[in-house]
Amino acid sequence: MIAFEPVSRCILNCEFCFLRDLETWKYRRKTWMDFEEFRKIIDDIAFFTTDIQFSGGEPLLNKDIFRMFRHARERNIYTLLATNAQLLGYRNNLEDIMENPPDKMLVAYESVDKETYEAIRRRGKHDVLVNNIKMLIKEKKKRNQKYPIIILQMVLNKKNMHQVELFWKSVKVLGADYGSVKALGVWPEGSPEYERKMIEEVVVPRSEHPISRHEIDKSGNLVWFREVGQCVAVKHSFIGSGGEVYPCWYILTQMPTFGNAVDDNFVDIWNSEVYREYRDKMLNDWAHPLCRKCIGVGATSDRRKMK
Ligand SMILES: C[S@@+](CC[C@H](N)C(=O)[O-])C[C@H]1O[C@@H](n2cnc3c(N)ncnc32)[C@H](O)[C@@H]1O
Ligand code: SF4
Repeated sequence: MIAFEPVSRCILNCEFCFLRDLETWKYRRKTWMDFEEFRKIIDDIAFFTTDIQFSGGEPLLNKDIFRMFRHARERNIYTLLATNAQLLGYRNNLEDIMENPPDKMLVAYESVDKETYEAIRRRGKHDVLVNNIKMLIKEKKKRNQKYPIIILQMVLNKKNMHQVELFWKSVKVLGADYGSVKALGVWPEGSPEYERKMIEEVVVPRSEHPISRHEIDKSGNLVWFREVGQCVAVKHSFIGSGGEVYPCWYILTQMPTFGNAVDDNFVDIWNSEVYREYRDKMLNDWAHPLCRKCIGVGATSDRRKMK
């Protein structure tokens, strides 16, 4: 799986999001990926990968996103769009999604109530989110379409943890295909202030919820729980909005890029000595000191089929 960042900007400012750190933007050559750049990369990787994810940033900010879905589909690549859904009602976005659907849509549905949602998804509007989800599901039903498969997702944190059961009920009532409650990721060594804020305001300790991958020790420090096993970074990759190739989004600021997929062929970068060495180390030990603290990409989530 390769994750793309069609744009590294966002209209929201979620308190736990990596993008909150403006530092990460300086690692991008540019903040928007053009369709021609995307096409070039997809054509390079089409024989090499079966699925891609559009993440970011907010992918719906990129006006070429629907052409991107279409092009990936034409190359038999399975697509997932992660979105905050705030822009679904803009321009022809809904119509365009239905005409050129990604295979899956992962919609951030952090909370069933306005106050909690707007405290977490800062600058987001809860009524807009709910209307947009309803509109999306209604339109899909009206057209009797299988795609996009709609997944509503909650990232578990202190502000919404009391709503988990309500979340599952609400996902069913809204008529989504799947629901998902996902473990929160805290970026190792983000910064001491970031870590303190996460501990005080965001992280739910494992003792309070089984999905959490963190614990707070007696001195008030964050302790990571990591299952033994292969990190997905040995088989996944991440391409930033300027074409930058990284093995892992979670330690982006601490890690150099392995190359640029706009300038060179991604497959050559993947097979380069430096990237191979990273994967070899990863398979045998940890490739980067910070990986020891990582909870693991794609860590625990509780995903349920609703219908
Ligand atoms: C970075 S966002 C980009 C896509 C889109 N803007 C959105 O919010 O869905 C990709 C996914 O990561 C999730 N996410 C963001 N920060 C996270 C964190 N600290 N831990 C776990 N998931 C996180 C979001 O909820 C979303 O599902
Ligand atoms: S909506 Fe997505 S990209 Fe934007 S700040 Fe929130 S998690 Fe980050």
